[in-house]
Amino acid sequence: MFVLENVTHYYSQGSQHLPAVNNISLKINKGEWIAVIGANGSGKSTLARHLNGLLLPNTGCVTVNGLSTADESTLALIRRQVGCVLQNPDNQIVGNSVEEDIAFGPENAGIIPAEIRRRITASLELVGLSGSEKRDPYRLSGGQKQRVAIAGALAMEPQAIVLDEATSMLDPEGCKEVLAILQKLHQSGLTIIMITHNMAEVTLADRAVVLKKGELVADDTPKSIFAQGQLQEAWGLEIPIINQIGNLLAVGGLSKDLSSIMSLEEMVELLCRLN
Ligand SMILES: Nc1ncnc2c1ncn2[C@@H]1O[C@H](COP(=O)(O)OP(=O)(O)OP(=O)(O)O)[C@@H](O)[C@H]1O
Ligand SMILES: [Mg+2]
Repeated sequence: MFVLENVTHYYSQGSQHLPAVNNISLKINKGEWIAVIGANGSGKSTLARHLNGLLLPNTGCVTVNGLSTADESTLALIRRQVGCVLQNPDNQIVGNSVEEDIAFGPENAGIIPAEIRRRITASLELVGLSGSEKRDPYRLSGGQKQRVAIAGALAMEPQAIVLDEATSMLDPEGCKEVLAILQKLHQSGLTIIMITHNMAEVTLADRAVVLKKGELVADDTPKSIFAQGQLQEAWGLEIPIINQIGNLLAVGGLSKDLSSIMSLEEMVELLCRLN
């Protein structure tokens, strides 16, 4: 669905600085769940903004379903296909009621009122907030606000959603709510691109893409990424504690399989089998 070819982005033309995104080539298939990880300033958000044409590459190109983001005549169509959810739920509220908020995108796209109504009902159902049409979005919990933001994106009937640290300001409960909805949407075929610093969330993805100083340094399954314990320092990433323990035990000679366990349950099972 997304094809990035040698994408490079400098924030200021002629800049002596390193590019924020440096010669990245990447394909994302329809229906995939991709986690984008990397240290602060590694270029994750810059990369994400290229996926719906909010930023254009200085060199290279980005196509979405074969349409180039550099082509102004198709940009509106691309933006309809690629929804976006950001970090701070409060910054994304645009309406005085939940329904007004969700209607914002479809109204701007010129969709007729009856269809907008149908989409509000349908997207609220998808995020588990049916019946919340008249509620004040500012009075919702963080998790609920992010679910309304997701509903707003869904009301455009996109093929993909890009989430830029969308759970980082939520409490554990809100985080769980949002992740459960993303899993459901993924099962129904939505493409998900999720930027996160939370390595536990990465395990939900089909693939993890690692950025370092604007360069793509790894593209693999979360299992393989976490098994490369020695790269934690090189990538500036915090590997989940369970994988750190697994890696240490594997290096200690207990069982190589321990380097690719993904949960406490798996570790317990494997250790019991070893005895
Ligand atoms: N609007 C901007 N103008 C100039 N430089 C920018 C701008 N936005 C980001 N940068 C720089 O580009 C580089 C990549 O930033 P980006 O925000 O894409 O990283 P990130 O991986 O999303 O970081 P974080 O984890 O902190 O969100 C950084 O060096 C940053 O300082
Ligand atoms: Mg960022």
